[in-house]
Amino acid sequence: MTEEQTLAAALEREHREIDAGIQAFLASCENGAPESEPLLRAMDALRRHIYLEEAILFPPLRDAGLFAPILVMLREHGEIWSTMEDLATQLGVAHGGGPSAERCRTLLAQLEQHNLKEEAVIYPHADTALSTDLDAELHAFLATGRMPLGWVCEQSRG
Ligand SMILES: [Fe+2]
Ligand SMILES: [Fe+2]
Repeated sequence: MTEEQTLAAALEREHREIDAGIQAFLASCENGAPESEPLLRAMDALRRHIYLEEAILFPPLRDAGLFAPILVMLREHGEIWSTMEDLATQLGVAHGGGPSAERCRTLLAQLEQHNLKEEAVIYPHADTALSTDLDAELHAFLATGRMPLGWVCEQSRG
């Protein structure tokens, strides 16, 4: 198996792609012609990424003993989710709106802190602690999986 095919590498690549989409939106704002499409795609990808982590990846890692770090990841997902909800609300404002660059910078900063920890503390275990079946399930989800409609992250459930 090549490095790129490991689960950790695939998840890290999603982190980079999501960051790039948010940065593309920010760049378009700085050019005076905000283009929300890359931001919308990045937020869809981020929601799906968080779903994959919370619904498929984290439970077996928690069972393997990573209880405390996963609690931190879930709390940070809640903060990230809330920033995305702000941005989605701003995107839905018909007049005088549009997502603010400031909230996008907040999202990027939250992701930077979160992803650093996740990549250092959680993902290495994704390559060693999961069964072959679960590893295959995660790779299949990365290729074609969809988040269930209306799903929200654990910390954002009312
Ligand atoms: Fe995460
Ligand atoms: Fe992640």
